[in-house]
Amino acid sequence: GSTLGDAASRTGRYFGTAVSAGKLSDSVYTGILSREFSMITPENEMKPDATEPNQNQFSYSGADRIVNQATSQGARLRGHTLAWHQQQPGWMQGMEGAALRSAMLNHVTQVAGHYQGKIYAWDVVNEAFADGGSGARRDSNLQRTGDDWIEAAFRAARAADPGAKLCYNDYNTDDWNQAKTQAVYRMVQDFKSRGVPIDCVGFQSHFNANSPVPSNYRTTLQNFANLGVDVQITELDIEGSGTTQATNYRTVTQACLAVARCTGITVWGIRDTDSWRASGTPLLFDGNGQKKAAYTAVLDALNGG
Ligand code: G3I
Repeated sequence: GSTLGDAASRTGRYFGTAVSAGKLSDSVYTGILSREFSMITPENEMKPDATEPNQNQFSYSGADRIVNQATSQGARLRGHTLAWHQQQPGWMQGMEGAALRSAMLNHVTQVAGHYQGKIYAWDVVNEAFADGGSGARRDSNLQRTGDDWIEAAFRAARAADPGAKLCYNDYNTDDWNQAKTQAVYRMVQDFKSRGVPIDCVGFQSHFNANSPVPSNYRTTLQNFANLGVDVQITELDIEGSGTTQATNYRTVTQACLAVARCTGITVWGIRDTDSWRASGTPLLFDGNGQKKAAYTAVLDALNGG
């Protein structure tokens, strides 16, 4: 294949990117988007603060612009995200307990229901585990509604859109030997053993000098897949430049290709200048939309090289 999407499809996989609705009027941006990518994740537009700005008043305008772009270019969509401690609308940030629980479940039901049939996979719950060595859940208003809030969200999502794959998504879960990775693994294992509807685990894979691509990354992906879920690389970006960066991108791509249930890779933006990172050059295209060495490394790896 001569594009990322075509090359990924050789092995039945997708290659995606995060998309920002505000950039869809930039023709350089949309040119690369429609040429290269077969999966789209709205970068912010499907988050709770965007979709339910006032309680029980839903707003889909930004998200729908991205859905329309996906339809027009024949790309699929990853929904991101239904329940998260960040980017909650103000009204939700102030809620606790049973009221928050039912508001969160209503949000899941309404938003997943609105897009029923249009989403390949939903990040139902995002970033619910603490950093560091505790292996604990992250403290948040959602967590304080009870430890079972995550499975309740997954059950609500399944009821609202039975055809969507339902994912748990997190960062710093790439190194098999980290407590956070182990804790997420045990949750997925528990969900599978009790029939809680979970289909996939998303590895955000934001890599930099402090959190490089771990040598056991492929092992981590395979171990999760062995639980009977798909795995996806959901927000890939890698700080650095030149050959080092290209090599790291190749390693990540090859890790996914080596795991049968790794169904696709999404990068978290198109050009370096589109990145959420304040500085740096973590993506596959430079600020002018030119292909970087990292792009060529990914394309070659997808093509089996
Ligand atoms: O849209 C408003 C604009 O109206 C306002 O004037 C401006 C001033 O701050 O803010 C704009 O919103 C910003 C939004 O991005 C859209 O650009 C927010 O401040 C900013 O916080 C927000 O950042 C996003 C971040 O999530 C927030 O948590 C990034 O774009 C997005 O890339 C990032 O994505 C996350 C994933 O969802 C989860 N994993 C980590 C990843 C990177 O942080």
